[in-house]
Amino acid sequence: MSRIKSFYQCQACGHTSPKWLGKCPDCGAWNTMVEEKSSPDARGHVHGNFERPRPQPLSSIESGKENRISTGINELDRVLGGGVVRGSVILVGGDPGIGKSTLLIQAASKLSEKSGKVLYVSGEESPEQIKLRAERLGIDSDSIILLSETNLEGIIGTAADISPGTVVIDSIQTMFTEELTSAPGSVGQVRECAAKLMYFAKRSETPLFIIGHVTKEGSIAGPRVLEHIVDTVLYFEGDRGHAYRILRTVKNRFGSTNEIGVFEMTDSGLKAIENPSELFLSERPQNVSGSTVVASMEGTRPLLIELQALVSPTTFGMPRRTCIGVDFNRVNLLLAVREKIAGLHLGGMDVFVNVVGGIRIIEPAVDMGVIGVIASSLREVPVHPKTVLFGEVGLSGEIRAVNQVEARIKEAVKIGFERVVLPRTNGAQLRGDPRLEIIGVNNVEEFLEVLLV
Ligand code: TYD
Ligand code: MG
Repeated sequence: MSRIKSFYQCQACGHTSPKWLGKCPDCGAWNTMVEEKSSPDARGHVHGNFERPRPQPLSSIESGKENRISTGINELDRVLGGGVVRGSVILVGGDPGIGKSTLLIQAASKLSEKSGKVLYVSGEESPEQIKLRAERLGIDSDSIILLSETNLEGIIGTAADISPGTVVIDSIQTMFTEELTSAPGSVGQVRECAAKLMYFAKRSETPLFIIGHVTKEGSIAGPRVLEHIVDTVLYFEGDRGHAYRILRTVKNRFGSTNEIGVFEMTDSGLKAIENPSELFLSERPQNVSGSTVVASMEGTRPLLIELQALVSPTTFGMPRRTCIGVDFNRVNLLLAVREKIAGLHLGGMDVFVNVVGGIRIIEPAVDMGVIGVIASSLREVPVHPKTVLFGEVGLSGEIRAVNQVEARIKEAVKIGFERVVLPRTNGAQLRGDPRLEIIGVNNVEEFLEVLLV
């Protein structure tokens, strides 16, 4: 098939060139030349016969409420905002090997039972390999159609022929459109392929999942270039050393962001975890110093997580500060607040802070937990085992209110906690719960006094 002419454009300054250049001759930036199509109208040039859309009055449009299809996997539905919306394009990004293909073949199996055929297009694995994985997961279905293809025009042609209920593209980095000459995985290709898939999804009202790898360098050709094209962006996170996987919504045109789904990778695929707090706390040591539980919110869902700290004398040179799962700069800031306000000296001490289970928490409500757990380790005093903490710490040592207090407390009661230490302003608004001792604190000194007894 004849190729449409293309050119290269610098992403930094817009300089164009008929051939690829490593360095932009205009602005001098390296590696910014990306292939573009010459004819903008080629975008509509997709196989399959679709009618031209008609403009219509707002009032005549039915809202898409009933248009959601459940994926049959609760945790996936939750991050999608209650199921897949027809015609939406969902990007599932994550490190290689994290479990993206596993998740989507599992979802494909459920979706095929509900909404007809699922076209699973793989540019990475042969149908035999996919079959092997499916066998391991106990999936066998006539309604999952496998297609080993990387040519985008071919894929869209096939999809238009068999009109599946759902399409899965595994992965966008292996796909190419004939309209560009650059290699699959390059920015131009990834963007163009995604735009065409989006066009297909919208016109045929087929929900479409796109898998994209994120490389360690936050790769330029990675799914990041796609984030503004697609409707929903989900990131699959987790530590390969741990079995837990978190599916996080980064963008969602059809629901709230920052929602998470929690899974465990088992021998027979991903298992949704309905009650993550229980699981994350299941191996918590009792009555040891340097461990505490914080109530964090992930979207609309409260999550009780164990924080650990280890403070030990530095054996040589500079004291080390290591954080896993919490923001390094935030911890450094809190350490400075502690030294200045609470008079706990950490010069000459190594400090390690870890969030158990390989999760990452970004919320400032864990501040109190970080300060508390470091103090507990430094003084070698355990925190009361049935205590939960949450609250933001300001630079002058004041404890600041956080949101969604009721939800956090409800979760704590559910798991069986008896004591909550929280910002005083939050505590003042609460109705008492007889099962729970609620302690409001105003500043770091007060907080440490009630925490470590
Ligand atoms: P995969 O879905 O292929 O990852 P991705 O598509 O994100 O690259 O899953 C990769 C890992 O998951 C692999 O190391 C094996 C593991 N795995 C299990 O532990 N249990 C299972 O049932 C399956 C299918 C995979
Ligand atoms: Mg894969």
